Amino acid sequence: MKILTVAELQGQKERAGAAALSSRVTVVGSGTTFQVPKGDLLLMSALAQGVDYPHNCRVGTCGTCKTRLLKGRISPLVDFALSPLTNEELENGYILACQSKVRTDLEIDVKLGTGHRDLPVRSVAGHVCAWRRLPGEVVDLRLRLDAPLMFAAGQYGILAPSGSFVQRSYSFYDAPPDPAGSGAQEVGFLVRRLPGGKFSAWVYGADLKGAKLWLQAPMGTMGFDEFDRDGLCVAGGTGLAPILSIVSHRLKQSATARFTIVFGSRSAQDNFADALLANLLERESQRVRLVNILSNEPTGSAWRGRRGLVTDALDAALGVDYANAAAFVCGSLPMVEAVEKKLLQLGVDPDRVHADKFVPAAY
Ligand SMILES: Cc1cc2nc3c(=O)[nH]c(=O)nc-3n(C[C@H](O)[C@H](O)[C@H](O)COP(=O)(O)OP(=O)(O)OC[C@H]3O[C@@H](n4cnc5c(N)ncnc54)[C@H](O)[C@@H]3O)c2cc1C
Ligand code: FES
Repeated sequence: MKILTVAELQGQKERAGAAALSSRVTVVGSGTTFQVPKGDLLLMSALAQGVDYPHNCRVGTCGTCKTRLLKGRISPLVDFALSPLTNEELENGYILACQSKVRTDLEIDVKLGTGHRDLPVRSVAGHVCAWRRLPGEVVDLRLRLDAPLMFAAGQYGILAPSGSFVQRSYSFYDAPPDPAGSGAQEVGFLVRRLPGGKFSAWVYGADLKGAKLWLQAPMGTMGFDEFDRDGLCVAGGTGLAPILSIVSHRLKQSATARFTIVFGSRSAQDNFADALLANLLERESQRVRLVNILSNEPTGSAWRGRRGLVTDALDAALGVDYANAAAFVCGSLPMVEAVEKKLLQLGVDPDRVHADKFVPAAY
């Protein structure tokens, strides 16, 4: 019998302790297994370990992370009966991975692989290096990161002021970094002030240059389609951020694809797209066009463009080949749902509709 040293005994004890405190998750049929500390959220733990788990909103609204639980026990954070899961899915044992605390070893059935490379979610500190108010009570917030970060077009990160428990999701608006490089050293976000908003009111309130924030990223899976396909991009307010990232990326990936960006804002005064996209529109005038539509512009104003909801801009006169376009939609939940419905009516292939819903945080 081998006599163990004190250090070996200590190591054994620690490993046994860690195993007792964590659960093994097996993704049936994929060859993937990973450990989750007991009580941790299934999705977040998977992402932190670089598991390419389908997800988007992370707050139980989009349904992208739905997973069939075959064996084991979880505690749901929300009532799944009120979630996007259908009655049939609930009866068949489906759960939302982003809202499930792992209690025991699990066997699950979920299709891994989102079209992105595996990009593990990391926590990186950064300092505000640029802060600029735009029309429409939006701030263009740029962070200089302490370590480079990889992300894909259309993804987002969770921002938290240093020393605060408030954390909110914001989409990257830059083109993603070169996958062959080490990552982005600087990242930018568009943050719209919401009345009473814990995070956005703080960002909007005063110039934050020098402030320290934590960024947990990358997350989300929006925006994957054949690069040579023309893009119909529909954005409401700061939904323009991921759209900008996607368009900038796809322009680099294809020499031919053209893009129509339909941007909905309340009034001409609130329109920040003209200023934000000015350089891009000048540089890519043959391939990118911006169509503004205003929902609350005073009658009789000097505005000569389109008026109405963003869905009103989606018609035959827009001159888009709906049957062949790849659609990217981003904004508030009701806006995205209305646009998705309209796009299907116009003949866009449902598999070509890629959407990101900006839903409120649950805490
Ligand atoms: C995947 C994802 C990406 C996002 N990307 C962006 C982005 O790029 N830019 C951006 O400005 N926002 C984005 N959001 C929304 C953002 O995360 C925050 O919810 C928003 O900024 C409000 O945070 P807050 O702390 O200021 O407000 P809170 O204190 O959380 O809420 C204040 C009030 O506003 C309501 N509210 C909160 N969020 C919303 C919302 N999105 N729509 C309608 N009502 C709301 C709340 O119910 C509450 O009544 C994104 C959300 C998700 C899920
Ligand atoms: S419901 Fe889980 S990621 Fe959206």
